[in-house]
Order: sequence, then structure tokens, then C-alpha cells
Amino acid sequence: MQIYLDTAKVEEIREFAWLIDGVTTNPTLVAQAGRPFREVLREICALVRGPVSAEVISLDAEGMVREAQELARIADNIVIKIPLTPEGLKAVQRLKALGIKTNVTLVFSAPQALLAAKCGADYVSPFVGRIDDHGGDGMGVVAEILQIFRNYSFPTQVIVASVRHPGHVVAAATLGAPIVTMPYAVLQRLFHHPLTEQGIARFLKDWEKVPR
Ligand code: E4P
Repeated sequence: MQIYLDTAKVEEIREFAWLIDGVTTNPTLVAQAGRPFREVLREICALVRGPVSAEVISLDAEGMVREAQELARIADNIVIKIPLTPEGLKAVQRLKALGIKTNVTLVFSAPQALLAAKCGADYVSPFVGRIDDHGGDGMGVVAEILQIFRNYSFPTQVIVASVRHPGHVVAAATLGAPIVTMPYAVLQRLFHHPLTEQGIARFLKDWEKVPR
């Protein structure tokens, strides 16, 4: 399973650049980083070889394609994030013809993912945390999408997004999801277990008793 970091903070990406396979950003994350979008993207793409998703703001297909072409010039590994709307999927079809990769975002259901895959999206991002927040079953939606993509051999890859805790990561991996994107805080939590920390403390204490 590939691990992406869901952030636009360059310092967080730098810390885990040795481990991660890609990065996803969105307008909220870019606003939180508090720096100019294109400058941040250039720095991220220099740190990470894998795909770096950058989202368009336009709501019409023509505007999305224009923005996408401009963003794609920043680096070879830029993937354009497009919202799941009819205009968005028209843009996906046009960008495919232009050889520009797309990640269809704000996916909350299996039929939405099916449409994105039919239009040639390279990635779809189901937002499991937001689905759960609304009383739905985020991982259930991911399971349906994975099964549909398998049934029709769609090459579109699923990026499990809106991840809130390590349990989401384990559930995604158990389902065989190819990619999970997670915030810095969740990635940090994946390393920890109280018994690991206790074990290290005990080994160090016992080591002091070893004759030198
Ligand atoms: C995905 O690519 C999005 O950036 C992200 O996972 C959204 O997560 P949120 O629901 O925590 O905002």
C-alpha cells in the first residue's frame, strides 16, 4: 500500500520524504500552509518523486483545463485534483487527451467513483472521514468502489482520503486499497505503541546493569 501525506506544509513533507510515496493538497491545506500556492508546489515536487495532487478552483470545464495546464507545467509529477461534478468530469476527459493526470476529489459514493473511472480519471479520492462524520460508512464505500473497479478492470486507483485515525489506515489496508493519504498527525501515530516505548525504556534500564 502506498502512503501519501495530506498536507501543504513543506516542513511536514521534508520530515517524511524518506517514507512517503506521494502528497495530496487541497485549497484548505494550502491556506493553512499560509504561503503562495505555486511556490509551495514547486518545493513539494522537489522533495517528493511520486504524485503531488494540486486542486483547481474553477467550476467550469474550460477554466479547470486552463488551470490544470498551467499547474502541470510546474513539475512532471503534478496530478490535477478535479471535483466530482459534470463539468469536472468533462475536464477529466479533456485532460486525459492532453496527457495530464487527474485525481477526482470530493467522492462520497460508489456511483460517483464509477463515473470518474469511466471518464478516465487516474485516481479517485473517497473521503472516508467526512462520510463517517455524516453517519455513513466510509470504508463500506471504499469496499464497493474497489469491487466495481475490479469487476470492470478500471485502471483508476483509489486514494483513501479524509483519514482521521490509524484505524482508517488499517481498514484501508485490509481491503487492499492501493493508496491512503493521511494528515501528518495520523502518520506520526502509526509509529507509536505504548509497549514499544515501555520496551525501549526497560531495555535501556536493564542495559545499565550490564557489566562494562
Ligand atoms: C484528500 O485529498 C483531501 O485533501 C483530504 O483528505 C480531505 O480531508 P478532510 O476531510 O480531513 O478535510
